[in-house]
Amino acid sequence: MKETMLDASFVQEMIEVSSNLYRLGWDERNGGNISYLLTEREVSRYIDVSNEGRTVPMKFDASELAGHYFIVTGSGKYFKNTAKAPSINLGVIRIGDSGDNYDIIWGFEDGGFATSELPTHLMNHMERLKADPDHRVIMHCHATNLIAMTFTHSLEENMFSKTLWEMCTECIVVFPEGVGIIPWIVPGTNEIGEATAKRMKDVRVVLWPHHGVFGAGATIDETFGLIETAEKAAEVYSIVCAQGGKRQTITDKQLQDLADAFGVTPRKGILQL
Ligand code: 13P
Ligand code: ZN
Repeated sequence: MKETMLDASFVQEMIEVSSNLYRLGWDERNGGNISYLLTEREVSRYIDVSNEGRTVPMKFDASELAGHYFIVTGSGKYFKNTAKAPSINLGVIRIGDSGDNYDIIWGFEDGGFATSELPTHLMNHMERLKADPDHRVIMHCHATNLIAMTFTHSLEENMFSKTLWEMCTECIVVFPEGVGIIPWIVPGTNEIGEATAKRMKDVRVVLWPHHGVFGAGATIDETFGLIETAEKAAEVYSIVCAQGGKRQTITDKQLQDLADAFGVTPRKGILQL
């Protein structure tokens, strides 16, 4: 018997990560969205890809991704419900040849659509694929402590990145390029997508002040791990502030020693050596 889409490892990965993001409190209600680039081969193992499906227009140019397949979370869908109803909360889409629409070839069975943040997701994919041929995943969530830090900490990228690096020893190893931060912009717009994608040229974590975070990576695990690491550092920062602030820290020299030991290059202009 032919396997169904629910047997696909990429569907199982989407279910698992949505459930974890919900459990961690980073995706309340319909908060958060994920898109995962798939090959035609991966998709055609489970469904007939010659099926046109429902066509949905887009108001931006994604022609660089024409013919590409993604599994994406649905607009207005709750991550807590993904495991019990994957074919309603998730969908597989194919970007149309003209780059200004997509076909839903599986899922969104209640008539739903891809996330309202599709402009940011697809624009980010376009940038990250230029930077890293192995890139496949864009993930957005409302990570609690990172959001909180955007109220209390300077929003200057180098200062923010340095604070995160200082809060947990592994941070500089996981995101040596630091984090990007864009101004506050209305979500779901092309404008926020363009601003985010511009920063995604050279970083894999972009903060949306007072809203959440976007992460990029080659796999679901790696992208989730990246966000988890930044959020953990932000949580430590919250606790350090609540305990009355730093009395000592990891020094710039120690951060550089770490980078040297792990063979990574920290973003220039942050460490003062
Ligand atoms: P969607 O439900 O459309 O994915 O939107 C959730 C969200 O987090 C918007 O930024
Ligand atoms: Zn959001």
